[in-house]
Amino acid sequence: MADACFAHPRLASVYDPLDPDRGDLDAYLLMAEDFGARQVLDIGCGTGVFALLLAGRGVEVVGVDPARASLDVARAKPGGERVRWVCGDADALPPLQVDLATMTANVAQQIAAPDAWRGTLRKAYASLRPGGRLVFETRDPAARAWEGWNRETSYRVTDIPGVGAVESWVDVTAVDGPLVSFRWTYVFAADGEVLTSDSTLRFREREEVVTDLAAEGFEVEPVRDAPDRPGKEFVFVARRPASDGG
Ligand SMILES: C[S@@+](CC[C@H](N)C(=O)[O-])C[C@H]1O[C@@H](n2cnc3c(N)ncnc32)[C@H](O)[C@@H]1O
Repeated sequence: MADACFAHPRLASVYDPLDPDRGDLDAYLLMAEDFGARQVLDIGCGTGVFALLLAGRGVEVVGVDPARASLDVARAKPGGERVRWVCGDADALPPLQVDLATMTANVAQQIAAPDAWRGTLRKAYASLRPGGRLVFETRDPAARAWEGWNRETSYRVTDIPGVGAVESWVDVTAVDGPLVSFRWTYVFAADGEVLTSDSTLRFREREEVVTDLAAEGFEVEPVRDAPDRPGKEFVFVARRPASDGG
């Protein structure tokens, strides 16, 4: 089940206004262009920001996400009818043969359970045409991002048109090896409602991800940096070989 911040209708509706700077997607748009992608699968598409950017450029897009409330937000946006939205994890996907599959905004870390992670990579591979690529990012554990996640650094009040002021902050609740758990709290000034969302992310080492990708048959290109977050992320570009077994 998806975390409340994606799956609760009131929280899904403020996901974009609470995090409006999507400069992180520029590098993905450039890669989609460089790779000449005409058909893209966006895994963990959330509120559809990236899927809709692609669709606006004439790309055929399928977006999949287990959070129905986020998909409802995505579907209601201008151009939402141009994307095929699928509710579920990668297993819910119909047969596809896309040029590119993506997981933007650290979706990979959300898929914390080893079986679900392997299943997602397997399904991504099966959904690519031979020669197609899977691109995603995951935070470098060495940067220890969670050490900067606390109430002092994260507290903010966001004025959202039609919603009112929303206070939000995050607290880390547990660090257990590669698993980091945290809780976001949201206070809606309009009626005083307080909502919380608990998440657990898996921080994977570079070699671990390379091994997982190779185990599913991918050829892994040299790992890149995220241009907007230098030194903090690994960006993986993995290719389904042009001919399987060849
Ligand atoms: C941080 S959000 C990123 C959303 C979107 N990619 C973006 O760039 O705005 C992470 C998304 O991963 C989704 N997610 C969680 N588990 C998933 C799974 N097993 N398969 C696909 N998506 C998943 C969540 O529902 C959520 O929408």
